[in-house]
Amino acid sequence: MENKHLLKLMDLSTEEINEILNLADQLKYEKKNGIEHHLLKGKTLGMIFAKSSTRTRVSFEVGMYDLGGQALFLSSHDIQLGRGEPVNDTARVLSGYLDGIMIRTFAQSDVETLAEFGSIPIINGLTDYCHPCQVLADLMTIREFKGSIKGNKLCYIGDGNNMANSLIVGGIKMGMSVSIGCPDGYKPDAEIMKWAAENGDFVCTSDVLEAAKDADVLYTDVWASMGQEAEAEERKKIFTGYQINDNVMAVAKPDAMVLHCLPAHREEEITAKVFEAHAKEIFEEAENRLHAQKAVLVKLLKD
Ligand code: CP
Ligand code: NVA
Repeated sequence: MENKHLLKLMDLSTEEINEILNLADQLKYEKKNGIEHHLLKGKTLGMIFAKSSTRTRVSFEVGMYDLGGQALFLSSHDIQLGRGEPVNDTARVLSGYLDGIMIRTFAQSDVETLAEFGSIPIINGLTDYCHPCQVLADLMTIREFKGSIKGNKLCYIGDGNNMANSLIVGGIKMGMSVSIGCPDGYKPDAEIMKWAAENGDFVCTSDVLEAAKDADVLYTDVWASMGQEAEAEERKKIFTGYQINDNVMAVAKPDAMVLHCLPAHREEEITAKVFEAHAKEIFEEAENRLHAQKAVLVKLLKD
């Protein structure tokens, strides 16, 4: 990969995304068949978390273990970063100990600063702005279930948040048409939407059924993201109707798949009925976090 970091999907070319997905498929096949591949023997990944995580934390830790390396869990509450030590100092200190850093935090600028001042690869494990690792796993899952990515219609319903931003970029770069169904005032990032409209087939509408019409892939995420807990009750009112349910499924393609980055709030952004009917692809998507991230780790950390 030309880039030595994964800060956001916009930094990757379509070819680089394809290379990651191909390697991820290979690593998944090898793991399923008991073939070990210690491509990162002796390497250590630091994992800084300023927010909660199940999938990202466990999949990165197991991924490093699978690859012959090790991972260190660094809660930002327990390291000096949480007491105000600057990101640029943290970057220079940790670069002396580690071979790479995965960081989950609030501001995208903190991830960029880590990359600017550190001398080791930095991987974005979610910010308020984007979630590139999740979307690599999503693309891998779409290819697995649909046979190809290009030409499919991807519809995201809900908050125009970090997931929406990364899905737009990943979807357009991989040749999907992308539609977003979200309330006015909760649209994805304006610059990303402008780029999408200029570079592909992109629609953002407040009409859920218009967004979902003929979709091959339906996607949703929580109405209140981490850090927005105080707005949760107000958001429940604003987002009522921005839900994947039977009405939405009825206008999508009959063989439409449903994805969710998880954790899911049943009867909010998705009904329990639709969630369980599509549990197969949703939990494959969760598993694919492991394989996709191992591919990213190999691309960025291998000598
Ligand atoms: N989808 C996702 O990133 O899950 P976690 O918050 O559990 O890491
Ligand atoms: N939008 C969600 C994604 C969680 C994986 C959040 O940021 O909390």
